[in-house]
Amino acid sequence: MARASSSFVCQECGASQPKWTGRCEACGAWNTLLEEAAPAAGAAGEGGGRRGRRLHFVPLSGETPPLARLASGIGEFDRVAGGGLVPGSALLITGDPGIGKSTLLLQVAACLAASASCLYISGEEAIDQLRLRAERLGILAAPLRLAAATAVADIAASLERSPPDETPPDVVIVDSVQTLHVDGLDSAPGTVSQVRAAAQTLIRIAKRRGFVLLLVGHVTKEGLTAGPKVLEHMVDALLSFEGDRGHQFRILRAAKNRFGATDEIGVFEMTDTGLQQVANPSALFLADRGEHTTGSCVFAGIEGTRPLLVEIQALIATTQLGTPRRAVIGWDTGRLAMILAVLEARAGLTLAALDVFLNVAGGLKIGEPAADLAVAAALTSAALQRALPADMVVFGEVGLGGEVRAVARPEARLKEAAKLGFGRAVLPARKGGTQGTAMIVHELTHISELVAFVRNGARPGKTVRSLGHA
Ligand code: TYD
Ligand code: MG
Repeated sequence: MARASSSFVCQECGASQPKWTGRCEACGAWNTLLEEAAPAAGAAGEGGGRRGRRLHFVPLSGETPPLARLASGIGEFDRVAGGGLVPGSALLITGDPGIGKSTLLLQVAACLAASASCLYISGEEAIDQLRLRAERLGILAAPLRLAAATAVADIAASLERSPPDETPPDVVIVDSVQTLHVDGLDSAPGTVSQVRAAAQTLIRIAKRRGFVLLLVGHVTKEGLTAGPKVLEHMVDALLSFEGDRGHQFRILRAAKNRFGATDEIGVFEMTDTGLQQVANPSALFLADRGEHTTGSCVFAGIEGTRPLLVEIQALIATTQLGTPRRAVIGWDTGRLAMILAVLEARAGLTLAALDVFLNVAGGLKIGEPAADLAVAAALTSAALQRALPADMVVFGEVGLGGEVRAVARPEARLKEAAKLGFGRAVLPARKGGTQGTAMIVHELTHISELVAFVRNGARPGKTVRSLGHA
């Protein structure tokens, strides 16, 4: 038999190369190459020397029964999962250590256990710890079955077939994929080849036996791990659980979903008794807002299919350094630089020599370009020392020419704002105007109008068309 050769696998991107180098040739990351034994030739493909069977092709049109989904009853989770879990599918839930992945899955499993057969396999916590947590969550009575294991061979043997006196599982949770080890691989648990082999084995069993596999994967501080990055293409859905550990909000987001939309989010709040669903996230994100503060602006955003109102805060200060500081939390640094440049070049606001701090309150991360105008409003308010009206929301995209561009679903944004008691909105001008809102609406076409508007103490100037009939 040929000697099992080894190769050097980048723990960042999964690329392998025959020689060790300080820097991965594929992704350019430093110090990420680790020697891993290549699997023996026979094991590489399933059924190594078997002669292939002819495939049976079917026409595209054909009867497919609607997907039967397992809903946990936790609405925020089910929605992100595309309306429930599809039997035979594999989901990966990623997130920073300590963010609450195990807590979420234990709660989901307990709810699912009422109508389905659920197994929870933990490689991180002992049974006693899991029981303590379940007690804290008030779900000790759920008919959930637990096991503590890390050997994939043991897990596979238990999942391959069920003894006659046991109900086969409908849902299996494995927490976490980084703790699993596959015999016959030299590398340590958590390395690319271990994680890949472990996940492959479990996913194959899940597909064959038709149970839902929920895998947990930790993310490192760079935002990707050996694990999740390598597993992304293997799983049917990739959900990320995000949040700031200093805040109690947690957001479940679908990054990929073969059985549902990928733009949905679920909002939770971490409490002493586990994760609670947040039915009205906007109210939560605006809870601690101070009124009449300069640099504060409420952005009417859309997360997934839901409107979400968040406060954007800007602070501008005289710099103590040669190069002014730009610090951003919850938004893109490059985008802030762009808005600052546009404010300077197109609206004559001088900010180049000042420190600028921008914060999305509540620990939320915003990716929507529609936040541009709200960020510009917060910055302008901070720079001119003029507070914006407390009952005003802002949204719109800003182009490099200073033009204010339309964004998706303005009505939904206005409706959410009206629901929460906001009376005015600043938004991109639209053909035909904004109808059907009981709000005072200021439509803008250029960023200089925004600056004039803030300078005027939020009274519409000549350039601003006010359509309001509140
Ligand atoms: P955990 O689910 O263990 O995180 P992960 O699996 O993502 O590593 O959550 C750990 C944190 O959640 C821990 O710091 C304590 C906190 N927590 C609560 O605040 N309330 C609770 O009811 C539970 C179970 C945990
Ligand atoms: Mg955990």
